[in-house]
Amino acid sequence: MSAPSSTPAIVPRRTASSIHQGLTTLIGKTPLVELANIARNRNLDVRILAKVEFFNPAGSVKDRAALGIITAAERAGKLRPGDKLVDITSGNTGIGLAAVAAARGYRTKFYLRSTIGQDKINLLKVYGAEVVLIDNKEFLAENAIETILERIVRENPNAYFTDQRANPANPEAHYTTTGPEIWQDSGGEVDILVSAVGTGGSVSGTGRYLKEKNPQLRIVISEPADASLPSPERPYAPGIEGVHKVTNIEPSHLPANFHAGVVDEALAVTTEIALETASAIAREEGILAGMSSGASLNVALTLAARPENAGKTIVVIFPDSGERYLSYVE
Ligand SMILES: Cc1ncc(COP(=O)(O)O)c(C=O)c1O
Repeated sequence: MSAPSSTPAIVPRRTASSIHQGLTTLIGKTPLVELANIARNRNLDVRILAKVEFFNPAGSVKDRAALGIITAAERAGKLRPGDKLVDITSGNTGIGLAAVAAARGYRTKFYLRSTIGQDKINLLKVYGAEVVLIDNKEFLAENAIETILERIVRENPNAYFTDQRANPANPEAHYTTTGPEIWQDSGGEVDILVSAVGTGGSVSGTGRYLKEKNPQLRIVISEPADASLPSPERPYAPGIEGVHKVTNIEPSHLPANFHAGVVDEALAVTTEIALETASAIAREEGILAGMSSGASLNVALTLAARPENAGKTIVVIFPDSGERYLSYVE
């Protein structure tokens, strides 16, 4: 019989390289997926690649901006443990910020339009964020965003305002990650980038990087059609969540992070078509993408039908998952 082994000394754990050190190390490096069925079923002579951002750990492209914004604030010495972060958000930035803040030891509070789907509001609460809903009618007023931003600063004097609309760390996150990932994963074979615009961070940062690599590359944005925008007659019109119209808008009302100079063309899509196209992606590719992904894919299909684009590669950013919009399903 062998002698009982003595109690082992406490040996520090070795960290295997395959163990991830926290949520933030999982942000980015999302897959670029060819939508071969979509192209084949429509006899399109183009290659459509989707940058599927719902693979980010908190479920959307905004995880990148959230990590960039919080890391930049930490480096600048603007955050202390337990501090509160505040912003105005259509959901996904809040969810990304709430997740990164939870991982890094901060609190969060977000102001949202009352029309944002319950799915995103519930997600924010589960991550521990405080949620303040603002009636959609308030967004129709002249200088609405400025008025709401003033309110946020007034009501939260000690909080750190993450300012996703103007914080340069937002487009920078896309310049340093989304752009290079698309370039590397496509082997530099990308002719057109299609993106929706919320703050503009995705298109400005990714677009700048890709145009530096290939000045011939075209950048096309999808934006909500007028019929899908809230108006005094229809203040609660269901829009394409998270995205905004940017053409024919007074430049002072556009977010500073939308760098219009990077964009070559804008095409409008209704909410109905965005949702229909998102369903087509689920049924034909098995990829459950959100409504802004549907809008951008619809734009890609329009571009694919143009003879001058035959044989080209179109990359489409899919910002989030269709699971965030299940309440829209009829
Ligand atoms: C669903 C969805 N799509 C697209 C975007 C656009 O992202 P960006 O703010 O980088 O322009 C957002 C932004 O919040 C979003 O929530």
